[in-house]
Amino acid sequence: MAATIRASAKNSRTSTGVRLPLGERGDGRFYGQHILAVSQFTRRDLDYIFAVAGEMHNMVERVGAIDLLKGKILANLFYESSTRTASSFTAAMERLGGSVIPINEVRYSSVSKGESLPDTVRTLQCYSDVIVLRHPETGAAVTAARYLHKPLINAGDGTGEHPTQALLDLFTIQSELGRLHGLTVTMLGDLKYGRTVHSLARLLRLFGAKLNYVSPAILRMPSTVVEELKQAGIEQHEYESLDAVLPKSDVLYVTRVQKERFENPSDYDLVKNAYSITPATMTRAKKEMVLMHPLPRVTEIDMAVDEDPRAAYFRQMEYGLYVRMALLAMVLGKA
Ligand code: NCD
Repeated sequence: MAATIRASAKNSRTSTGVRLPLGERGDGRFYGQHILAVSQFTRRDLDYIFAVAGEMHNMVERVGAIDLLKGKILANLFYESSTRTASSFTAAMERLGGSVIPINEVRYSSVSKGESLPDTVRTLQCYSDVIVLRHPETGAAVTAARYLHKPLINAGDGTGEHPTQALLDLFTIQSELGRLHGLTVTMLGDLKYGRTVHSLARLLRLFGAKLNYVSPAILRMPSTVVEELKQAGIEQHEYESLDAVLPKSDVLYVTRVQKERFENPSDYDLVKNAYSITPATMTRAKKEMVLMHPLPRVTEIDMAVDEDPRAAYFRQMEYGLYVRMALLAMVLGKA
């Protein structure tokens, strides 16, 4: 009996079914866990993550950095381009006193010699305590995690998920509007290929949101996501024009048309300028609305909108730093 208890205490099964060894401080909810998809999170988890992110915000404003993760190393492995996600994970690790192995140009690593993803991540776990992975294939993070006994954080897998972005998006909504319940959230643009909206819509199901999807017909929200939310009793509506839903929206979440994911470049040309938010658009929106965008933007939000107090996309990036600090501290057992 005692042996059974000892054996189960030594290993924790993650929500993805991957067994990870527990270390000297295996007491936190996310200690040693992979962050792969938003389905991992409960409402209580989100409250906890946002409370820790709030602490991180206060700490950065007060002292800038602490040595909570001193001696810990993050491997930042990016097979796709990134400005915000890669640099915010780096900043997060460094503000917590840790250091980073940056591999954001995989063509200069052994990947260019033909090394497989499992071998590359197994190499990096020899030198680091946590791995952040961005990869063009849907499901790559789940595959990579199977080969690891150290935590892996999915920083975007193809058109699949972008769970840390969804967490920071939700944290932004809470910080800007002061509430998360019963909101009308309108998602606009490339809902087919945009992984951020796949994750955010799934996370919003926990808060009884009403979701409007506005996109060109060829870029509709995937039926898998719509069906999942339908099963959870979430009200969802699809449109091709923003006009009818804009005045009722508490959040307008705009996305870039994901040029790099189109099989046929002429399809991209047909939809690349489908929407553009301008100051005139904003006159028809609620006074208390939050305008969000995961960035980078191309033409879908006019720069003249940036000065509008409802334009939250630059603040959204900053909230991302605190959420990623919270996640790193949590998976490394220090929160
Ligand atoms: C997004 C992504 O990579 O999915 N960017 C980000 O992480 N902030 C959105 C995009 O590339 O359009």
